[in-house]
Amino acid sequence: MSIDYPEKFVAELDGKYEGWVLEELVSEKEIRTRVKELGREITNHYKDKTPILIAVLNGSFIFIADLIREMDIECEVDFIKLSSYMNETKSSGTVRLVKDISANITDRDVIVIEDIVDSGLTIKFLKNRMEGSGPTSVAFVTLLHKEEVSKIDFDLDYVGFKIPNKFVVGYGLDLDQKYRKLPAIYTVKESDQNGRS
Ligand code: PRP
Repeated sequence: MSIDYPEKFVAELDGKYEGWVLEELVSEKEIRTRVKELGREITNHYKDKTPILIAVLNGSFIFIADLIREMDIECEVDFIKLSSYMNETKSSGTVRLVKDISANITDRDVIVIEDIVDSGLTIKFLKNRMEGSGPTSVAFVTLLHKEEVSKIDFDLDYVGFKIPNKFVVGYGLDLDQKYRKLPAIYTVKESDQNGRS
């Protein structure tokens, strides 16, 4: 059974976020097309290699599931869980290692999979963590990049979409742990009382 989402999905939130709405920023189709392209680019780059993909929980679980199935090479998968947001829409400014990787990544080609690079704190932490284990190479993939606000002094190897500095949910990203299952990326914003949003 399929659910039909309108072209421009707008939903009103309730409870703590009453008066706020979700508005589509990146459509399901745009995501699908871009994930296919990223899968192709990664495949071409890692031909004849077996990289290990390390996805950052929780937000990246949907992205990695789709991305890996668009890659035409053998690869391994592992997960790391960090926390930089404290259930609010602003970064707390610190990164906490909640669950480390299980695999040994020494002499491996590592590909870090992020759903979003926002302030850049998390990806900087990941770079140090990965490079500290002596991998052959480390590459960074992120579906979304808030280029205007991220403060990083290294290049991201694969970026799905550069987005403005807005709080976003869907396709793995949450608001207070909800809305991860939405099929596209949505901004969360306060609804205008006059019906505009
Ligand atoms: C989000 C997101 C990134 C990180 C990016 O994770 O998934 O990992 O924040 O933010 P930064 O660039 O400002 O560091 P979050 O801590 O919200 O956990 P979650 O993935 O479980 O939702």
